[in-house]
Amino acid sequence: MTEATAMSDAAEKPAKPHLPDAQIVQSVKHWTDRLFSFRVARPKTLRFRSGEFVMIGLLGETGKPLLRAYSIASPSWDEELEFYSIKVPDGPLTSRLQHIQPGDEIILRPKPVGTLVVDALLPGKRLWFLATGTGLAPFASLMRDPEVYEKFDQVIMMHTCRQVAELEYGRQLVEGLRDDPLIGEIVGEKLRYYPTTTREEFSHMGRVTDNLASGKVFTDLGLPKMNPEEDRAMVCGSLAFNVDVKAILEGFGLREGANSDPKEFVVEKAFVGDGI
Ligand SMILES: Cc1cc2nc3c(=O)[nH]c(=O)nc-3n(C[C@H](O)[C@H](O)[C@H](O)COP(=O)(O)OP(=O)(O)OC[C@H]3O[C@@H](n4cnc5c(N)ncnc54)[C@H](O)[C@@H]3O)c2cc1C
Ligand SMILES: NC(=O)c1ccc[n+]([C@@H]2O[C@H](COP(=O)([O-])OP(=O)(O)OC[C@H]3O[C@@H](n4cnc5c(N)ncnc54)[C@H](OP(=O)(O)O)[C@@H]3O)[C@@H](O)[C@H]2O)c1
Repeated sequence: MTEATAMSDAAEKPAKPHLPDAQIVQSVKHWTDRLFSFRVARPKTLRFRSGEFVMIGLLGETGKPLLRAYSIASPSWDEELEFYSIKVPDGPLTSRLQHIQPGDEIILRPKPVGTLVVDALLPGKRLWFLATGTGLAPFASLMRDPEVYEKFDQVIMMHTCRQVAELEYGRQLVEGLRDDPLIGEIVGEKLRYYPTTTREEFSHMGRVTDNLASGKVFTDLGLPKMNPEEDRAMVCGSLAFNVDVKAILEGFGLREGANSDPKEFVVEKAFVGDGI
């Protein structure tokens, strides 16, 4: 093949089609038949606060982007972006997204927003992360952010799922944190992890709400009952979970805050709807 032919071949080959705001998938890990995580390249210009979410998706059948809100599960210092996702069997996005492979493109709208940010809370002694299911995702980001440990003496991650296997992503993340060369030392003994299940035998069991209301978690961790002087909380789960946790936190005297009005706790939905 002459040089001229080679050049014309290259010119004729259509350029790889690029989605709008396309990012390349770097790795994918499946945790259960309902849960997977994946990492994508981070746009150089994307700045976000740990705990925020963005819109991500794929091109829909009509050629229009099919986008959904996703918490960024990686911390703001990470060079890649990580996401932790449900697989809804007939979900418009996740029925397809669950099949992505390294090298594939996804759409990522680079406009991070959200209430689960440290700035939305008043200073305090302890920070509680309260999550069910994929509601862990924003805390997967925050747990890896040094700012959290600079601002709080203790950080408590309560995560509840129906089954043990659904806790595995969070468990490995916490285990890995303690030995992490970048932030292991900062995290040290400050991070307390309190995973529970509700429908399978496990060392610790029960709903977040029940373990807070009964005081079991305070006894188990040797901590005082939650109070508005010392404790701050961030909540992320189903609407029913958020409503029930909010009532309990308010019962402890904590008030709901927002970015524009920091108080003692903040809440964000992990998804819209009643569950699959
Ligand atoms: C602020 C915000 C942040 C979010 N962050 C995440 C995230 O980090 N990871 C993630 O997996 N999803 C997250 N979601 C949900 C996400 O936006 C989509 O709903 C999800 O990806 C399913 O999309 P779908 O098109 O397949 O199905 P949809 O049509 O969006 O959902 C179908 C049904 O599945 C159920 N469902 C949707 N998402 C979940 C879920 N995560 N857990 C349990 N049931 C669910 C609901 O009942 C919903 O009505 C977030 C939602 C919001 C509002
Ligand atoms: N997880 C599974 O194995 C599984 C499998 C197939 C389909 N699904 C479907 O997927 C949907 C989402 O399931 P999911 O397990 O991710 O979420 P989920 O039903 O919200 O449950 C997640 C965890 O949150 C607890 N919880 C639910 N509501 C609560 C509340 N108001 N206050 C405190 N804790 C609460 C649950 O405890 P309880 O167990 O006490 O409710 C469970 O431990 C459900 O509609 C389900 O039918 C789930």
